[in-house]
Amino acid sequence: MSSVAQPAPDVEGSRFILPSFARTTAFRLTLLSAALFAFSSFVILALVYAATVTAGVRRADNAIAQESIAIEARFRAEGPAAANRYIVQRSVAGGEFLYLLNQPSGRRLSGNISNLPSTRPDDQGRVRFTYERARVGGQSTAEPSRAARGLISNLEGGYTLFVGLDVEDEARFVTYILNSVLIASGLAVAMGIVSGALVSRRFSRRLDDINAAAREVMAGRLQSRAPRNFSGDELDDLASNFNDMLDRVERLMQRMRSAGDSIAHDLRLPLTRMRGRLESALVDAGDLADREAALAQAISDADELLKTFNAVLSLSRLQTGERRRAFETLDLAAIIADVAELYEPVCEETGHEFAVDAADGLTILGDRELVAQATANLVDNAIKYTPEGGAIMLRVRSTSSGAVELSVTDTGPGIAPEERPRVLERFVRLEASRNLPGVGLGLSLVQAIAEVHGAELSLDDGPGASNGDGTGLRIALLFPRHRA
Ligand SMILES: Nc1ncnc2c1ncn2[C@@H]1O[C@H](COP(=O)(O)OP(=O)(O)OP(=O)(O)O)[C@@H](O)[C@H]1O
Ligand SMILES: [Mg+2]
Repeated sequence: MSSVAQPAPDVEGSRFILPSFARTTAFRLTLLSAALFAFSSFVILALVYAATVTAGVRRADNAIAQESIAIEARFRAEGPAAANRYIVQRSVAGGEFLYLLNQPSGRRLSGNISNLPSTRPDDQGRVRFTYERARVGGQSTAEPSRAARGLISNLEGGYTLFVGLDVEDEARFVTYILNSVLIASGLAVAMGIVSGALVSRRFSRRLDDINAAAREVMAGRLQSRAPRNFSGDELDDLASNFNDMLDRVERLMQRMRSAGDSIAHDLRLPLTRMRGRLESALVDAGDLADREAALAQAISDADELLKTFNAVLSLSRLQTGERRRAFETLDLAAIIADVAELYEPVCEETGHEFAVDAADGLTILGDRELVAQATANLVDNAIKYTPEGGAIMLRVRSTSSGAVELSVTDTGPGIAPEERPRVLERFVRLEASRNLPGVGLGLSLVQAIAEVHGAELSLDDGPGASNGDGTGLRIALLFPRHRA
């Protein structure tokens, strides 16, 4: 195929002589098969030719020998006159044989030709010769000499007998076959060239289309695609794979670009705010304590900035699908236990009741760090948004459909059903929680983590609020089960 795209460098010269279709692989292959076809039909027909010639010669020689034996028998039994009678009878009856019976002196006694053939006979007396047939009425004619075979035998008493047979018609037939074979072979090659040119033109036109699309993409027009004819042949397959590859590259590039854009966008606001605070601390002359407070504030702003930065970064990474390679078999109970160990002391401090209910041996395929992070984000929200005295339940169980469910339930205010899709978006925080710390990325991360794991995230009403004000919240991640 490479020859279509680019002629080989060592045929520099020939590329100006050969038309472009002749340089394609398709053309060469078609031509080669036509040549093979022509050659093999030539060989087969040549064999047929040889067999026909041999059979014709043998048939003629046998007939000549039989006729010769018949005359000899009469000659031996009844003498030259009887042989003469026989020859005259046979000639008059319109037989196809040529005869000549010569006396010992060399003079013609009988026969329908005047002289013995001038070609030398072989040791058995057989000759191949040409003669001119006399026309009825003895006129000499312009007819070309005709091919014949014959047998010369020496009889008792010095007599010489010649019997011959005209084989001109057979020779012509054989020549006719030979010419047909040559013409057919020539035609096969010519047809090979024509069909090769047609096939290769079609083939290279389609390859040119794919090459053109590739060049367009290289020139920066990422949207261009190779045309398809949906025939399902290998070129259509190539075009389809090529297009799929471009789609994927384009999608990845878009995601990366939007990840970069959003990091810049998301960090601009907190950075501007921090700069404003630092500036006013510098401008408003205050005492040392004020400045220290301003510095402490700047440090906590920077911390928040770093947190946001990390969250946005891992969100982007998740969305470009980079993490999937680190997947392993995970026991959810073990991960839950780690997260619980982290948050139990926090709950004691905040006055929340904290319970864990995890069935052992429920395994999924995933990234340990990400699953732990998602769980921590959910528990963190539950603690943050559930008023003091509420309860939080962390649970892992298998569902009736065979999936593994990880859920966090709280007895806080809950989220109204119409707000549920919205809180999963980046930087969305509900009105009620504006006065609580946070940037609104926690649930976006949980959502992205669920996606890479092929898990389903669902938000439902909880068991009701402990203070009677709301429904509580139950957030669940439904993982496909994976047995190691
Ligand atoms: N358990 C919950 N009960 C009630 N509201 C909740 C709960 N969890 C989340 N929310 C609401 O959803 C919003 C988005 O939550 P998310 O975790 O994404 O951000 P955040 O907690 O505000 O900030 P952070 O990025 O620090 O997690 C919250 O601001 C809150 O309004
Ligand atoms: Mg949160």
